[in-house]
Amino acid sequence: MQHSHRIRIVNWEDEASALRMIRTAVFIHEQRVPEDLEWDEFDAISTHVLALNADGQPVGTVRLLPDGHIGRMAVLKEWRGKGIGSAMMLKILEEIGNRGIPEVMLNAQTTAVRFYEKFGFQAYGKEFMDAGIAHVKMILQR
Ligand SMILES: CC(C)(COP(=O)(O)OP(=O)(O)OC[C@H]1O[C@@H](n2cnc3c(N)ncnc32)[C@H](O)[C@@H]1OP(=O)(O)O)[C@@H](O)C(=O)NCCC(=O)NCCS
Repeated sequence: MQHSHRIRIVNWEDEASALRMIRTAVFIHEQRVPEDLEWDEFDAISTHVLALNADGQPVGTVRLLPDGHIGRMAVLKEWRGKGIGSAMMLKILEEIGNRGIPEVMLNAQTTAVRFYEKFGFQAYGKEFMDAGIAHVKMILQR
């Protein structure tokens, strides 16, 4: 299947401005997450996925923390529903497989639970609020 986007594994140092642009648009502007909650010390030590459109412009990101947590999954609004989020998920799961990480965890926004379920994640525990948004914990046993 032909894709009009490219998915790359990057680090924060090299691609911080592209990663910041996407997360600012999606989390800070669209979802009203306070700026000081968005940026943390984990960016510098995480592995990041960057999705580029056919013109090479950044349109999506997700990060993998050293402890096996996935987070900050975001696709710019106008680029959603085209398989970019799924392609990023597959890329990060491949990376996780390469590292032999046995258990993958994430805190899903409740509206995104169905998206993660497509990849085998299962929700557990009670819903909780983070940055004013309802979340639930999810796990993927490999
Ligand atoms: C969640 C998100 C990253 C998905 O990216 P995307 O590029 O639109 O995803 P895809 O096009 O690969 O969609 C894959 C499938 O999941 C479904 N899906 C995507 N987002 C969904 C959502 N929020 N809820 C339920 N299903 C969703 C799609 O309908 C599609 O289903 P299909 O395969 O049956 O057609 C994107 O909606 C987003 O950035 N949302 C705002 C930020 C956010 O909520 N991030 C999650 C934080 S936990």
